[in-house]
Amino acid sequence: MNKILVTGGAGFIGSHTCVELLAHAYQVIVLDNFSNSSKLVLDRVEQISGSRPSLVEGDVQDKKLLDQLFTENNFDAVIHFAGLKAVGESVERPQWYYQNNVQGTLELLKAMSNHDCRKLVFSSSATVYGDPATVPITENFPLSATNPYGRSKLMVENILRDVAVSNNDWQISILRYFNPIAAHPSGLIGEQPNGIPNNLMPYIAQVAIGRLERLAVFGADYPTDDGSGVRDYIHVVDLAKAHIKALKSLKIGVGCRAHNIGTGEGYSVLEMIKAFELASGKSVLYDIVERRAGDIAECYADPALSLAELGWQAEFGLEKMMQDQWNWQCSNPNGYEIE
Ligand code: NAD
Ligand code: UFG
Repeated sequence: MNKILVTGGAGFIGSHTCVELLAHAYQVIVLDNFSNSSKLVLDRVEQISGSRPSLVEGDVQDKKLLDQLFTENNFDAVIHFAGLKAVGESVERPQWYYQNNVQGTLELLKAMSNHDCRKLVFSSSATVYGDPATVPITENFPLSATNPYGRSKLMVENILRDVAVSNNDWQISILRYFNPIAAHPSGLIGEQPNGIPNNLMPYIAQVAIGRLERLAVFGADYPTDDGSGVRDYIHVVDLAKAHIKALKSLKIGVGCRAHNIGTGEGYSVLEMIKAFELASGKSVLYDIVERRAGDIAECYADPALSLAELGWQAEFGLEKMMQDQWNWQCSNPNGYEIE
């Protein structure tokens, strides 16, 4: 297996996965419309890897472009990252989310089957577990969603399961990411949130560097040890490596399988603040405010099935995640655009 189409390959997780793919001598073609990424990303991937993915700029919903791409390239597999991911925005613009995330995937599946390429790795999310009754979460927990973003992921998962049943040639790996954070240790690629970050980690990093004043901790009255929300934060490089393992696990007969991609460790918001302060030597000022609507108390993975079936487990701990997050923040205080 050699030639891989990476949709959304210029994004946060996609760019780190490109680095891993190139390190494993895969030929990488990125399809991205740059709706949430910078064109500088591919230069940075090249700086790290010594080789550059090919780029096709365009939308995964573009039938003609997909047909041309699959006609010109004999892809062995597709890794499908392209999609929109902001929960709040998905509530405001649901059709846009279903269009990009669900319709985009349907177009991709059509092109893949028309061109006899039936190996796929799909980016799902722990959000498909809704509000789990217990933790840690195993892959057979009931699935549900509480917002259009989550529903788009669940819809795609269901489509993929149906598609795999319809034709035994399909080999599909659904990876359910927990909370990806940190950055490549080089400091050359990382996450560039648009505007004020919604997610905890980039928010903490921007407070530490002085771009934002104070963090709002959303609730300290949850039934957790210190009352703040607990999540399974995973280093994006570990996450990227899971895609290589997932690709290698695709074989005739596997059908469609889902795996948790998390560390199995949960950390609270207050623990994350402390750990970041330690790694950066900066203080992170915060206020405890009301809970954020839609948030759950605790969410962390049981990653045992990923180890058993993919041979994957996370290697990096919290300290390394914090160091790499801080390194990325310091090397690129304004993201990719302003050097
Ligand atoms: P990202 O926004 O950094 O990357 C997504 C990339 O896809 C961007 O480069 C964007 O320009 C591109 N894109 C979006 N819509 C497109 C379209 N219609 N056609 C072509 N390109 C398109 O996001 P990310 O954090 O790297 O996430 C990658 C995938 O993982 C997404 O599907 C996301 O839903 C999923 N995921 C992310 C997280 C997270 O917390 N980051 C958690 C769970 C799942
Ligand atoms: N939090 C704060 N203050 C902030 C931001 C977050 O206290 O400014 C807290 C949240 O309440 C939560 C924790 O930090 O307890 C993590 O919040 P994030 O927004 O970073 O992440 P979520 O767990 O809410 O959601 C993320 C992605 C979703 C994805 C989910 C599961 O944003 O898209 O992980 O993968 F579905």
